[in-house]
Formats: sequence, structure tokens, C-alpha cells
Amino acid sequence: MKAAICSLLGVLSLGIMATPASAQTVVSIEREAEIGTIEPEVYSQFLEHLGGQVYGGLWVGEDSDIANTHGVRDDVFAALQALQVPAIRWPGGCYADLYHWRDGVGERTPRENMAWGGTEEPNTFGTHEFFNLAERLGAKTYLNVNLGSGTVEEAADWLEYITGTGETALAQERRANGRSEPWTIDYLSIGNETWGCGGRMRPDYYADLYTHWASFMFADEQKPVMIVAGPHDGNIEFADEVLDHPMIGDVSSGISLHFYTLPTSDWSAKGAAIGFPESEWASALERTLRMDGLIEQTLGVIDAHDHLGEDYGLYVDEWGMWVDETEGKSSLWQQNTMRDAVVAALNLNIFHKHADRVPMTNIAQMVNVLQAMILTEGEDMVLTPTYHVYEMFTPFHGATSLPVELDGPDYRYGDIAFPALSASAARMADGSLAVALVNADPNSDHAVTLERAGARSVSGRVLTGDAMDAHNTVAQPGRVAPQPAEIRVDGDRLTASLPARSVSVWIIK
Ligand code: AHR
Repeated sequence: MKAAICSLLGVLSLGIMATPASAQTVVSIEREAEIGTIEPEVYSQFLEHLGGQVYGGLWVGEDSDIANTHGVRDDVFAALQALQVPAIRWPGGCYADLYHWRDGVGERTPRENMAWGGTEEPNTFGTHEFFNLAERLGAKTYLNVNLGSGTVEEAADWLEYITGTGETALAQERRANGRSEPWTIDYLSIGNETWGCGGRMRPDYYADLYTHWASFMFADEQKPVMIVAGPHDGNIEFADEVLDHPMIGDVSSGISLHFYTLPTSDWSAKGAAIGFPESEWASALERTLRMDGLIEQTLGVIDAHDHLGEDYGLYVDEWGMWVDETEGKSSLWQQNTMRDAVVAALNLNIFHKHADRVPMTNIAQMVNVLQAMILTEGEDMVLTPTYHVYEMFTPFHGATSLPVELDGPDYRYGDIAFPALSASAARMADGSLAVALVNADPNSDHAVTLERAGARSVSGRVLTGDAMDAHNTVAQPGRVAPQPAEIRVDGDRLTASLPARSVSVWIIK
């Protein structure tokens, strides 16, 4: 630990009150060592039919007064486009195991959404609408087929409908419904959380079903990346037993991991989205940092199964902040604050560290649900602090992750202690470095020094807020927004003061 120094650089030019500066953290990047490519899909999204997400949030229909293109809101679409969304998982989640694809093609059949409160699903957003959205966004598609209440025939038919190239009845039906060219399914999972809402299955039963169903998941002229539903919250025995199946490696390329950040770690009282005490800032971040250990634990289980290929992947296809519901709002709607931004950035730094083994992650979820990018209110739209983190981190898409070491003080609250700063770094295609820096200390600015930066020029942006629960609203949409960062080039070093509760991205040329 280095000696404490007073504010080395003063405050960043943010127009916010400076907080007391704490000890300095030194960051070293190993430029010669490479972890691996940060696949753009690490920044993927999750779109479940849940609460106010699909209907109202994303889809308003062509007849709406809200500006839209083929039914998709123009404002939400433009915001997503700016994030360069690499892939979208759909239609669930728990909802996937209730979804019957024929309800959402041709003449639509409304049904109750029994996974999420029995609200009526009009099914006006179905297969064509999803694939057209992904195509317009340039995003890959991740389909979760209904194992829980569907049949292998139904799932196989859906795949034929989507990807069929020949003159089969299903390919012709798709053409009759307005789409001549087949679409591509890039990723496919059979079942979701099959230990729970997906059918409460024993792992060996699920493994048998998976290998059986996967044998019939023909997507014409393409082979989606096949993903197995895996553990949640550390129930690693489930993954271990599913992967024991001797043929699972023949029909799948990876397993999923779900892990949510509940501030209290108690599913019956998760904690509030806003107005929370510092104890729940600390406990939320301590819990979110468990992601690193869970990834390592799951990779350990994968590696213990010799019959799986060397590149068998880990897909963190649900993660993010989950707090108590807000009265008067749709299911799983929650306000998104500076704490969510820090949670997002800490996890993204962890994913960069595991870039060689984690090819995709899907934050939960995209619009109006859990740790959303975007919140809508009627015709208005608000970009959340988490959105800004995703936008700031776009230079990491496809960059080469580099090992990073930090030497600095901890943030402490009661018995909780973890490093105040977190960092990751990556080399972009043009040779520039992208560096992400998180100050998880809610009270103090932290001085940071980047050694051997080799910078000819540096620029950066910083996201912070005037409170732990600072957030954006329709009335105040820009309360939390990225600002230019002040970074000093000092010989071969870069120095700066990272504001309390902040996320920064620097580009070093
Ligand atoms: O993201 C909300 C829900 O969380 C998903 O539907 C389910 O897979 C998980 O339990």
C-alpha cells in the first residue's frame, strides 16, 4: 500500500462537490501479456416478455402516437443503436418455458403470462418482430426454446420456420407471413433455469432431455452455439451433474450461469432501489464481486469434465441488480442509480478478466425491467446510469483484454472490505488502450496513477453522481451523465483523481 497523499490533482471538472481524497492506487497494465479477445457479445442484452418491457417499453405497434418504425419505438431503438448491441436473448427467462411460438406469427393469439403475474400477452411482438429488430440493430440472436411446457416437435418446427431455406411447408409459411429470406439463430438454449421455473428438474433428467432435444434442433445451413441451462447463485452441483452426462459435450458448446446482485442477499427483502443506507451500498458491491469467484468455480467444474471440448464456454446470460419492486409500477421495474452503474462496471471488469473463457453475457434486462438500460414513461424515455456505462465501454467490444494489477487501499464498511478501485484494460484494433476505472468508495475521491502508460495523448470520460442513489428521471434526465475527465500526463505516468462512486473510461494513444 502506498503512502496516503492529499488530492494529487484536485477534483475533476464535474461541477459536483469534491469529497475527501483517500490514499493513492497504482495501476499496472501488462502490455505484453494477453488474456484474450473481449467478444462484443459480452455486452449483450436480455429481452424477456415481462412487466413493461416488450409492450410499451420497446413495442408500441404501428398505430401508436409514439414515433415508431414497424411498431418499435424510434427513441428506444436509437438509444440501443448507440450501444452497438451485439446480441439479444429472447423470449425469456422463465417466460421462455411458457412460450408457444405459433401465438406470435400470422394471426396472433393472446395468452396469459403465467410466469409474470398473469398479464395478457397480445403476442403482437413475435418471431418476425424479434428477428427484424435484431437485424435492424445488427445484433446476433439468442433464442431460448420452450423445454418446460413445449415439445421437441414444436421447437424443431420453430427452428425450421425461422431458418428454412427450401420449399418446406414451414419455410413457405414464413414467406407467406412476409419474410422470404431465412434468419440466423446464432445462439440457442434448450430450457431456462431448469432446476427452478423451467420445470424443477433433477440435473440428470435435464441432461437426458437436453441431449435428446438437441439431436433434433436443426437450423438449416447453420449451427447455433448450443448453450445448456446452468447454475444460479452458486448451486454448482447442478452444473456438475448436468455436465457429467457423457454426450452433453457432443451437442453443446457451453453452459450458462445466472447470478443477481441483491443488496441484502435476501430474496424476501432484497433492499430498496433508492434511499438505501450505506450498508446496502457496501453489501450490494460485496455481493456483486462474488461474480469473479462464481466464474472461476464454474470454469473449474467445466475443466473437471474431460469429455468437454477445450473451448467449452461459460455464458453469463443473466446478471445484474435485483431490488424490491416499486409500488405502482410494472413487474420488476426498478429505479437505476449510480450504484447500478458501479455494479455494471465492476462486473464488466470481471468479464474482461475472464475474456478467454466467457464469450457472452446478458445483463438483465434491456427496458423497464431489473437493471435496465432504458426506462420509459408513456412517450418519454430516460437513459439510466447503467446505459451510460454500456455506452462508455463500447471501445472494449472486440478489444484484446490485458492483465491489470492494482495496489491501493480498501473501502471498508463495518465487516465489509474490498479494494476501493477496480480496473481493466484492453488493446483496441488501432493499438490504442482502453482503460476502465471504477471508484466503488461512496465517500472519497481516490488518486490513481497508471504506470508506464506510454501515452502520446489521452482522453477520458467519467460518470458520477451527487449521491449513492443519484438517478435520472423524465424531469431530470441528465443528472447522471458522462463528463470529460481530467487526466494528467506526467512523464510515462498518467494521474487523476477518481471521484467517489464513479466509473471512468480512458483512451490512451
Ligand atoms: O430476469 C428475471 C428472471 O430471473 C428470469 O426470467 C429468470 O430466468 C430468472 O430467475
